[in-house]
Amino acid sequence: MVPHKSEERIVLSNVGIIDPESIEDYIAHDGYMALRNVVKEMKPNEVIEIIKQSNLLGRGGAGFPTGLKWEFTRKAKGEPKYIIANADESEPGTFKDRIVLEGDPHRIIEAITIAGYAVGSNDGYIYIRGEYKLVQDRIRTAIKQAHEKGFLGENIFGTDFTFDIKVHQGVGAYICGEETALIESIEGKRGEPRFRPPYPPTYGLFGKPTVVNNVETLANIPSIIRNGAEWFRGFGTERCSGTKVYMILGNVNERGVIEVPLGITLREVIEIYGGGIPENKKFKLAQTGGSSGSIIPESLLDVPMDYVSMIKAGASLGSGALLICDETNCVVDLLKSITNFFSYESCGKCVPCRVGTKKIQNIIESISNGGGLSTDIPMLEDISNTMAAMSLCGLGQAAAVPILSAIKHFRKEIEAHIVDKSCPANVCKF
Ligand SMILES: Cc1cc2nc3c(=O)[nH]c(=O)nc-3n(C[C@H](O)[C@H](O)[C@H](O)COP(=O)(O)O)c2cc1C
Ligand code: SF4
Repeated sequence: MVPHKSEERIVLSNVGIIDPESIEDYIAHDGYMALRNVVKEMKPNEVIEIIKQSNLLGRGGAGFPTGLKWEFTRKAKGEPKYIIANADESEPGTFKDRIVLEGDPHRIIEAITIAGYAVGSNDGYIYIRGEYKLVQDRIRTAIKQAHEKGFLGENIFGTDFTFDIKVHQGVGAYICGEETALIESIEGKRGEPRFRPPYPPTYGLFGKPTVVNNVETLANIPSIIRNGAEWFRGFGTERCSGTKVYMILGNVNERGVIEVPLGITLREVIEIYGGGIPENKKFKLAQTGGSSGSIIPESLLDVPMDYVSMIKAGASLGSGALLICDETNCVVDLLKSITNFFSYESCGKCVPCRVGTKKIQNIIESISNGGGLSTDIPMLEDISNTMAAMSLCGLGQAAAVPILSAIKHFRKEIEAHIVDKSCPANVCKF
């Protein structure tokens, strides 16, 4: 994976450069230096302060401040405390965490251990998507090597800090990436979200204070500790520091993974890193953030992509999967595959999502085959708004996002399917 010349790589800085199965190679690239400094030179509160000062926001989708999450967990009553790296990565189009874990597994081992020291935990877990066999092998190898060097286990770097990491293999359900469903799954239960509050920092794994962080979030930690919070704030925008790993998918000349500062626009991503749209076709829409992301038109191509600006513009950054669609694509056809996904993956625990995702799927299916009714768009809006407001977890809430954004920006095209019984892009066959 050769980086584009304008990329700025932090999370992916070692990927493709070091041998992921060699701890010596990681060490030769400053590996475990941050952990060493932390356990030998710093107090837990100082570590948390640096992460807070860095403005690192969680890269798992919600953009929650990482330092604050660690602080809540450290201050929460209850022992033992746990750190969980969320490597379930089941969002369609999303494979950034796999690339980090396959290409630089020790970075995540180091980061989980630093989090453990900061929060006052001796137990870490990494929950890895079931299909990611190579990731599981590489992480197991990395854990073994870290033990042999004394970077995991008892008396890390000769101090009295003890920490270990267990690997948990995911079970193939999208919902198990949701942090409380993931926790239930580790506990050996059916992977269903919990009612909240309480949140994991106060009531997490086995009812104890727990940090759940995304792999990309964690991958930033060793670099922040080594270079300082101010260095990290030098990347990105004022309120959203650092870089973001994006997956560029769909109708672009160069598909793949890039890491660039937060705040660059989707137009820049398409033109500079994606090499433009093939055959001089016109841009039609993009879905930003995976299947649960918003569908955006050309007028939003110049919004700076960071967590704050995207929300202000009514869009989402989510996992960073950017699906680019040219003029030959149909928005109803796109919604058909998205709604099939949500209806299949809904865990069924709460009514708005269990019933809503199925009803939406049926309505979109009927619109796409010429059976659409004049009541369909208001019905889709009604169900989506109910799901967004009433669903128990982010799956049901996010399932509404592509529908509502498609209606907002592409209403005419959906109406053409319902009223004229025609597909302007000539994709749906009636
Ligand atoms: C249905 C669903 C699936 C999710 N899947 C993932 C996932 O695969 N990886 C991930 O890190 N976060 C996922 N999340 C978000 C997690 O619940 C949680 O917010 C995240 O792991 C927190 O990490 P962060 O603070 O570092 O972003 C998912 C959320 C939902 C609602
Ligand atoms: S919103 Fe959907 S996935 Fe989440 S708990 Fe309810 S039924 Fe399950």
